[in-house]
Amino acid sequence: MTAESFQPPAPPFNAAATSAIEARHLTKRFDGLTVVSDMSLTVGQGEMVGLIGPNGAGKTTMFNLLAGSLAPTAGEIWIAGREVSGDPPEKRIAHGVARTFQIPRPFAEMSVLENLLVGAQKQHGERLFANFLTPGLVRREEKTALDKAHTLLDFVTLSRLAHEPARVLSGGQRKLLELARVLMADPQVILLDEPAAGVNPALLEVIIERVVALNEQGKSILLIEHNMDMVSRLCSRVVAMALGRPLAEGSPADVAANPAVIEAYLGGVA
Ligand SMILES: Nc1ncnc2c1ncn2[C@@H]1O[C@H](COP(=O)(O)OP(=O)(O)O)[C@@H](O)[C@H]1O
Ligand SMILES: [Mg+2]
Repeated sequence: MTAESFQPPAPPFNAAATSAIEARHLTKRFDGLTVVSDMSLTVGQGEMVGLIGPNGAGKTTMFNLLAGSLAPTAGEIWIAGREVSGDPPEKRIAHGVARTFQIPRPFAEMSVLENLLVGAQKQHGERLFANFLTPGLVRREEKTALDKAHTLLDFVTLSRLAHEPARVLSGGQRKLLELARVLMADPQVILLDEPAAGVNPALLEVIIERVVALNEQGKSILLIEHNMDMVSRLCSRVVAMALGRPLAEGSPADVAANPAVIEAYLGGVA
């Protein structure tokens, strides 16, 4: 291990902090184009908050900023009471934050089960020194990862497809696999990017139930979703944005009835 590759371990997630994740005055510009502008939001510990807005509002960019795959032009990101604005995605996962992708891209020829294990291997087995010096430890970690992958496939109702190549999965099943993939990292804060988009009604109920179960386990959740029925059922609080800016915040009913929100959806931005 070189000095450069050494990353000090992230301190454990501080469950005593009042907010799980916070965006403070986040701005993101690409070549002069402002995509997110002075956005602030907070997800409290154990809370489930909705993030809504028409297509192009900047919701996914907010996730890229919160999950560390994009650096903010200005503003700060705090996780469980600690500023993490400059930390890369691996560190965000170590801090307890993980996100799903709006369009999941599983490894098509790998099995559903293997798709969960490749992520876990990145976390453990690729540590060459550990392989070399403590093969027993690595084998124990592999067994733990395998057990966890089976438990999570059961949780997302994909167990019977464990050994099928991921390419056979429907759009809804891919969303469920994406959820299981993220849960392999044991996140405390989960960012869900349109988990219900393109999902048939039967699988939609499974996804809703599973998200509720995760929240009941104490996970803090930020949910991007166009399905307002789902948002109203799941979230006590909603933040609406359009053209990169905050529009309204409050209960799902109040935000859905807010004239600025209605206009943003009707105004041709969607
Ligand atoms: N890497 C990028 N470079 C330039 N523009 C981008 C980039 N990523 C997103 N955008 C633009 O930012 C705006 C917001 O996109 P996005 O965050 O995906 O919105 P949403 O998820 O709300 O639909 C869009 O106009 C999009 O084209
Ligand atoms: Mg998006």
